[in-house]
Amino acid sequence: MRTQSWDAELYDTRHSFVAAYGAELLALLDARPGERVLDAGCGTGEHVAELRDRGVHAVGVDASPEMARRARERFPGVDVSVADLREPAEVPTPAGYDAVFSNAVLHWIPEARRVADALFAALRPGGRFVAELGGAGNIATIDTRARRLRAELSLDEPVSPWYFPTIAGYASVLEGAGFDVTGGWLFDRPTRLDGDDGLRTWIRGFAGHLLTGVGDTDAFLAELEERLRPSLYHDGTWWADYRRLRVTATRPAD
Ligand code: BEZ
Repeated sequence: MRTQSWDAELYDTRHSFVAAYGAELLALLDARPGERVLDAGCGTGEHVAELRDRGVHAVGVDASPEMARRARERFPGVDVSVADLREPAEVPTPAGYDAVFSNAVLHWIPEARRVADALFAALRPGGRFVAELGGAGNIATIDTRARRLRAELSLDEPVSPWYFPTIAGYASVLEGAGFDVTGGWLFDRPTRLDGDDGLRTWIRGFAGHLLTGVGDTDAFLAELEERLRPSLYHDGTWWADYRRLRVTATRPAD
């Protein structure tokens, strides 16, 4: 099993918008009491707990032991375990779920086809898949300006850990795994980063690759803030230029 390390407390206190935006996706999922739902990449467990409280048999998995631990601390009794979504054998109850839900996680796993295969296998025939992830063009302003600054400082091109597909690209991955794709939406969602240090906290927490090899990270981040301020600082706060890809799909009935 390959696990991933996360600062679960920082995620909850400074990046709680990740779970908050999932509410719309939960509405799209429309889980009914008694259904079995897998939250693929459940983070600190908010959605698993909410589904459970609505009478859904909700199970969460996350690649990060810290996230899973925090989920169990925050919501005693939630069914959350550590699993690598690329490994069908690690996803609990194969072929058993009525629905698989995933919010703001799948862009961290470039092996998209392996994940699609594992999630397809986790669903019962006729089961549904509802997911949101970063889509093509996500955080392009931050990424492009940081890369430009790195180039000016003769730093190398960092390898991106992210997968931000187009609608067509992701639909083809899902179809390759056997899904019927029933919906796809790509839309901008500028996302508020609280505090004057919001942008740098986000970069330190989520985009460490943009800082690799940088000697004085504070000076680098200060310069990056100056360059990004005209486009990403307004109404007294920082905004990340998020763009979301939302998809719905079903595993065909046998
Ligand atoms: C996102 O949710 O789109 C995202 C979060 C952290 C890093 C990159 C993208």
